[in-house]
Amino acid sequence: MTPTPEIRTGLRPTRIEVDLGAIRHNVARFREVAGTDVCAVVKADAYGHGAVPVARAALEAGASWLAVALVEEGLELRQAGLDAPILVLSEPPIAAIPYLIEADLTPTVYRAPFLATLDAAGHARGTPVDIHLKADTGMARVGIPEADWSARLHQAATARGVRVTAVQTHLARADEPDAPTTSEQMEVLDRFLAEAAKLGIRPTLIHASNSAGSLLHDRARRTMLRPGIGIYGLSPGPEVDAADHGLEPALRLVSEVGFAKRVVEGTPVSYGHHWRAPHAGWIATVPIGYADGVPRALSNKVEVLHGGRRCLIVGRVCMDQTLVWCDDAEPHVGDPVVLLGAQGDDRIRVEEWAAAADTITYEIVTQLTARVPRHHDG
Ligand SMILES: Cc1ncc(COP(=O)(O)O)c(C=O)c1O
Repeated sequence: MTPTPEIRTGLRPTRIEVDLGAIRHNVARFREVAGTDVCAVVKADAYGHGAVPVARAALEAGASWLAVALVEEGLELRQAGLDAPILVLSEPPIAAIPYLIEADLTPTVYRAPFLATLDAAGHARGTPVDIHLKADTGMARVGIPEADWSARLHQAATARGVRVTAVQTHLARADEPDAPTTSEQMEVLDRFLAEAAKLGIRPTLIHASNSAGSLLHDRARRTMLRPGIGIYGLSPGPEVDAADHGLEPALRLVSEVGFAKRVVEGTPVSYGHHWRAPHAGWIATVPIGYADGVPRALSNKVEVLHGGRRCLIVGRVCMDQTLVWCDDAEPHVGDPVVLLGAQGDDRIRVEEWAAAADTITYEIVTQLTARVPRHHDG
């Protein structure tokens, strides 16, 4: 049978709802923070929220750039008709150069062989390729290490096939308000910029700040912000709460009760029988599991919203099913269940899941799998 649109978007009631109004609100908040340009980071399918609709919403709210991790992600945005400037956050493989030139994606650059190949390609087409040079100022992940600054800056300054339109760096500890690291990194960035200026490289754009850097560190804001997690309304870490900065979560993860039963006191449930009913009561089974992105580590640790009450996830989370203790409130097949997001006056926050699973909000939302259909409103 040919899949109908209904089958493609899911017969199962489990779905992700993304409020594009919240995305626009959050992008506008970042624009207010510093009055600078905003580059909306929409890599990893916009942190699981859906790259194309989120990118459109971010641009509507005034973002002037989009950023992705992979050339492939940039091509997806171009194929959807988005013509805004797109930055590729890490230097792509050399084999990707023809694709990035064809699609007018702007690469981050830090290695000599990539720069040389790009220079030759720009020379061959007769128009220089715009690049954003990346200095390592203390993250020690990617970027030009200090020992190579001079050589790479000379190479960039003499290359006729490329044009350095921006200098960028990345912050290692911006989400720790009291750590001196961000200020130290800014001093290193200023030294890099001074060396670049001596060789005539004076970029129009300078960018360093992820969400936490944008919200907490004035000195790191420079001429453009590069927020990701904050535009989804989520906290960068336990010391920076998105809600305190007026950011609104955009994502809800919802389903329905798929099966309901009454159990007697002591009934053990799910794989391994790691939970037993404390007294007679109701269990609801919800058609969502770790194959959808509910971490198995959340078993017996977080709650869902059902009928306006918080109900604990009990027993091991399975691949496709999750059990919930409804106590004495009888659940019915088809009752709405909210795993993440608001129901009535209450809300289950991604931050709760992150704390319970001993991880960060980023990992929770990027692990929500493609099996869960995304619906965009607003
Ligand atoms: C280079 C770079 N810039 C910006 C961001 C956005 O960071 P955040 O999601 O913390 O705002 C990321 C995300 O990891 C990144 O790798």
